Amino acid sequence: MFILNNQDPLPLYKQLYNLIREHVLSGKLPADSRLPSVRELAAELAASRNTVEGAYQELYAEGYIYSKPRSGYFVSALDQGAAPLSLSRKPRKSRHLQEPSSSYRFDFHPARLDRESFPAALWRKCFIDSLRESSRDLTQYGNPQGEWRLRCSIQSYLERSRGVRCDPEQIVICAGLQHSLDIVAHLLKGSHSVVAVENPGYHLPRAVFRNNGFECIPIAVGAGGLDLDLLKASSSTIAYVTPSHQLPMGYVMPIANRLKLIEWAESGGKLIIEDDYDSELRYHGKPIPSLQGLRPAGNIIYSGTFSKILSPALRLSYMVLPHPLLARYRELFQDYFATVSLLEQRTLAKFMEQGHWERHVRRMRTIYGKKHDTLLRAVAHHFGTRAVIVGQGAGLHVVLQLSGSTLGETEIIARAEQEGIRLFPFSSTCASSKPDSPKLMLGFGGMTASEIEEGIALLSQLCF
Ligand SMILES: Cc1ncc(COP(=O)(O)O)c(C=O)c1O
Repeated sequence: MFILNNQDPLPLYKQLYNLIREHVLSGKLPADSRLPSVRELAAELAASRNTVEGAYQELYAEGYIYSKPRSGYFVSALDQGAAPLSLSRKPRKSRHLQEPSSSYRFDFHPARLDRESFPAALWRKCFIDSLRESSRDLTQYGNPQGEWRLRCSIQSYLERSRGVRCDPEQIVICAGLQHSLDIVAHLLKGSHSVVAVENPGYHLPRAVFRNNGFECIPIAVGAGGLDLDLLKASSSTIAYVTPSHQLPMGYVMPIANRLKLIEWAESGGKLIIEDDYDSELRYHGKPIPSLQGLRPAGNIIYSGTFSKILSPALRLSYMVLPHPLLARYRELFQDYFATVSLLEQRTLAKFMEQGHWERHVRRMRTIYGKKHDTLLRAVAHHFGTRAVIVGQGAGLHVVLQLSGSTLGETEIIARAEQEGIRLFPFSSTCASSKPDSPKLMLGFGGMTASEIEEGIALLSQLCF
């Protein structure tokens, strides 16, 4: 009745199990019909008793057959209509599907990093050393708030380079900004419901807060950062800001406005979320100190990331919670588990302890500074007076304000795509209306100097 194949890599008992199960599911073996005894079937198949016994036991355990004392095994009554079709079919041979590739000759996406500069050799060494030292700890869950050593390294780095004042107890290791904001949303739900977001601004905070049931109010951004009069006039009690390098416009919020923003937050239990995502990358002059450092005991949640200098793929970021939110954080999240791998955290801690991080920051600042200057020269050369650059001098992108172009953003992006140029739509940073004049967001981190020059030359021919 059943034919087993000795050449098939699938064990014989599993082949028999599959065959009987198919017969049961298809109704070929009717309910309550008796299966041959183990001995009979083994003889019929010229197989061992273990093979038949193994198949029967698995079918029995899954309920396809039942047993009666001293009578043997019988087919269970199954609802044929509800039987999973896929179970009675042969498993599909797994084909190795090629991942669709998006190959752009010129990728101006603002979140791309230099393709050659991930410090792989140092990272590998720190990783292997951490693995050796941590092998016992890998048998348990790590600290849900993040590895203590990493939090200590981040604390002293933030104090030295960003003027942030905190202790490691306040630091939460996260897997990116969306994770931090999700935690913040949970902490503030119930006591707050309206968030002011920059317009134009990073799209992610809008999405995270909306998904958590908050109302997001877009507040216009000017050369002084978030418009504070509009903020005060709004019903927001939380303000998400990028004061040291506004995304996307690159503005730096001046000290007078920073102090006013802090004053706003202190008037009635409001909160500031300071996203300090790329402030290490300032090419002329010193990095702008953080807002948090102006009021370490204030209502400021500070957020930072390793995505801009080290790697966005590692998903390593952190936030500093003000003391009054810590108790609530522990209450809500004490039963959660860490979201960033313990080994990656310890590798990064070692990388920082051994001084590699700060050397890497300096190296990347030089590399990106050169790319940035190349981009400015190429734009001046190829666009001339037809474009004004906004937000230069920092970060991994600039904004081009075009003049004299009759084309809209969609048309420019489509034309660019046909020529192998990837452009990130500026309009996705706009919470409400589209920008009045066409603007291009040009990331330069992932491109070589010659790609920047060639890409800009080509782009300048497509925009008008
Ligand atoms: C404004 C802003 N904040 C934060 C981030 C980084 O977030 P993450 O740590 O999730 O990679 C980005 C990335 O592009 C960003 O543009």
